[in-house]
Amino acid sequence: MQVCHTIREIGEFVQNARAVEKTIGLVPTMGYFHAGHLSLMREAKKMCDVVVVSLYVNPLQFGPKEDLGEYPRDFERDCAMARSVGVGAIFAPGNAEMYPAGYNSFVEVAGITDKLCGLSRPGHFRGVTTVVAKLFNIVRPDQAFFGQKDAQQAIIIEKMVRDLNMGPEIVTLPIMREADGLAMSSRNVYLTEDQRRAAPVLYRSLCAFREAVAGGERDVAKLRRDIKEMILSAPGVQIDYVEILSVPGLEPPDTLTGKCIAALAVRFGKTRLIDNMVVEV
Ligand code: PAJ
Repeated sequence: MQVCHTIREIGEFVQNARAVEKTIGLVPTMGYFHAGHLSLMREAKKMCDVVVVSLYVNPLQFGPKEDLGEYPRDFERDCAMARSVGVGAIFAPGNAEMYPAGYNSFVEVAGITDKLCGLSRPGHFRGVTTVVAKLFNIVRPDQAFFGQKDAQQAIIIEKMVRDLNMGPEIVTLPIMREADGLAMSSRNVYLTEDQRRAAPVLYRSLCAFREAVAGGERDVAKLRRDIKEMILSAPGVQIDYVEILSVPGLEPPDTLTGKCIAALAVRFGKTRLIDNMVVEV
């Protein structure tokens, strides 16, 4: 596995692969890998000849009061994990490489970015689409792999690719969970023991939502209320949002029809966790 820190190095790696007709899969990440990241890499390896993983904690997508400084990092461990699943190259640029002095260009998807996480994290998705567009231009992958864990992010990136006629096909893969249902996240390490014990309530509330829908419940307001109530039964939680929206338009439906997502963001102390469940009626 090649480790590249500059755009030139990864450019050469990709050019060499393409010269021998290899297809390229890109998995964009911020590192501190868990089984969710590895599932994207494994699937990329199945679908493409060569897998490039980008590992970059993108400052542009963090708000001024967010956890950029504390974001967990372990480069050596990440490299070993990526190597173990057959990744061809890691692209781990520094900030000066991605945003050199005078950097002044941004990519913004309007509309679907100003709800859910876009409301509580202003500017977040502008940071995400800008860095992902840059990564697409640097690596020029045939396919790029994202997790359903960040459902809104995946929808926004698909929209960006369609609207701006970008090259890669976007592949969105299922949420990987711990044995007790908690969605895997690099941020789970922030949880105290008590918070970690309480956190699976998020998945339980989404499973109850899915069961209620399967049982014929179509009243969106009631479904939403029930999710909130179950979450608030856990100690020390603060709900950021619980929304039920259409997919992929992210519009609020009156009654549940077609494809819908229940999406939530909840704070356990200072740690903000997100999760979601898609249902189809
Ligand atoms: P990061 O949080 O490191 O996540 C990288 C990719 O892993 C994302 O596509 C995310 O949805 C996916 N992922 C995270 N947890 C997952 C889980 N439990 N199951 C399946 N997939 C999971 O998302 C980002 O980084 C950044 O915003 C990025 C796209 C790299 C842009 O900076």
